[in-house]
Amino acid sequence: DTDTAVPILESTDSAPAGKSSAVIANEVARRRTFGIISHPDAGKTTLTEKLLLFSGAIQLAGTVKGRKSGRHATSDWMDIEKQRGISVASSVMQFEFRDHVINLLDTPGHQDFSEDTYRVLTAVDSALMVIDAAKGVETQTIKLLDVCRMRNTPIVTFMNKLDRETRDPLELLDELESVLKIECAPVTWPIGMGKNFRGVYHLLNDEIMLFKAGEEKADGAFEILKGIDNPKLAEMFPLEIEQLKMEVELVHGASHPFDIERFLAGVQTPVFFGSAINNFGVREILSALVDWAPGPRERDATVRAVEPGEPKFSGFVFKIQANMDPAHRDRIAFLRVCSGRFEKGMKVKHLRLGREVKLSSVVTFMASSREQVEEAYAGDIIGLPNHGNMQIGDSFSEGEMLTFTGIPYFAPDLFRTVRIRNPLKMKQLHKGLQQLGEEGAVQVFKPVLGADLILGAVGVLQFEVVASRLLNEYGVDAVFEGSSISSARWVSSDDKKSLADFETQLGHNVAYDAAGNLAYLATSGVNLRLTQERWPKLTFHATREHA
Ligand code: G4P
Repeated sequence: DTDTAVPILESTDSAPAGKSSAVIANEVARRRTFGIISHPDAGKTTLTEKLLLFSGAIQLAGTVKGRKSGRHATSDWMDIEKQRGISVASSVMQFEFRDHVINLLDTPGHQDFSEDTYRVLTAVDSALMVIDAAKGVETQTIKLLDVCRMRNTPIVTFMNKLDRETRDPLELLDELESVLKIECAPVTWPIGMGKNFRGVYHLLNDEIMLFKAGEEKADGAFEILKGIDNPKLAEMFPLEIEQLKMEVELVHGASHPFDIERFLAGVQTPVFFGSAINNFGVREILSALVDWAPGPRERDATVRAVEPGEPKFSGFVFKIQANMDPAHRDRIAFLRVCSGRFEKGMKVKHLRLGREVKLSSVVTFMASSREQVEEAYAGDIIGLPNHGNMQIGDSFSEGEMLTFTGIPYFAPDLFRTVRIRNPLKMKQLHKGLQQLGEEGAVQVFKPVLGADLILGAVGVLQFEVVASRLLNEYGVDAVFEGSSISSARWVSSDDKKSLADFETQLGHNVAYDAAGNLAYLATSGVNLRLTQERWPKLTFHATREHA
């Protein structure tokens, strides 16, 4: 048991023996932590798998979601994902590429899981945006980009599926600029498309990479020709090359040259074209992330900013996931390391509880498999075994009171009352909902008066996921029924008496959420407004930050 409390020790001032700040600085500089975002079906899962394949982290790419061959994508591990073909849970993967340690965080593309995506994006330093070049900018792309913009996250763009008939590439860039309001700097440019897709021209290196279809190539199996004026090229594809030359001239004239400062500021995105399924253009993406994307940067921890190269360990939990591995039946808290060095067996302070915990069986992730972590540095994501006392937003350090901020919960707009078919399963229901609530899969409200539990969600699919997980992971057959609740607000006040009166007088509509925070469950907009007017000493919040 690794999560047991031990008495709080005063932290000592020295860094772990033998690890100088130069070692830490070097390790931090090697880290790249990025999230991958896209509208569903643009090819995020396929690209994720190819990134792993390319880096040598996996040997054989599974055909996406196993629909064709029965194998499953390495980044998809939950049954419901396989059934519905959407990514519900974000997964975390670590691999090495060109002497860099890459942490890749998958995000659910479906809008019903946008809260989860938001939280994952608080833990990354850059993002990779995948766009289906046949479709261009889609609704979810817009929303995800808005989330990235809140933190000025630098974004690399991959235009996918060039092996199909796509939209005109110039038009695609135009759309990105006008709809997403982000400057585009094309780095590669496609030569033809669909059946006539010949490859891409690298605008900065003046090289042509020739396209060859094929799903399971692991590395640079593509022929490269130097120079757009290479006579060999004109021989091979006389028609396409004329077209390319015209377009390149246009692109040079009309688009923005790549500017790393503008990229790092989040105002410009380098754009690459390729085909994930053919593993084409994937190495260029990895190189861009290594060469251009930022390593870990300083993070705001309320009392001060924390630098990644500081000798002492700190980090925060941005995601909790129950039963990731049905064989383990555990809950993992995903922690982003913000500074210092994590070492297996070290004691850290769980700041919300003011307790010291010894972390001896911390794991890192290779999609569905996990390994014990010996050490970790800023940018790394480590999985802490969690026996129920860790929450999203919890900060950990070697003793200093740091509070990493910026991970909100949003007030839900959809509500359901939970009933169960078999009353003997009440205990399992409560346990399941408590755990799924802590995980943020759904928000669970327990009214002060009355026996019903109320579930709140931002997207309706969350209810389906919860119902399915209750059944599969907790053996509870639950029925969700319509609820009279229409909105929720978290309530706080310095006036303890007002809070207590509020609870006793409105007990049926006052509830505690899974993290023990007080909330008001309103039956209508009018009801909410009247309640706010009647209780002037209370503050009603539409979002709640983890503290
Ligand atoms: P997602 O995670 O973003 O939802 O997308 P995913 O990787 O699952 O890809 C969605 C579909 O697009 C998959 O088709 C996948 O094979 C296909 N795809 C991905 N990259 C490419 C590409 O470079 N070229 C082409 N032509 N197709 C690509 P699928 O699972 O077979 O199902 P369906 O959606 O075609 O029915």
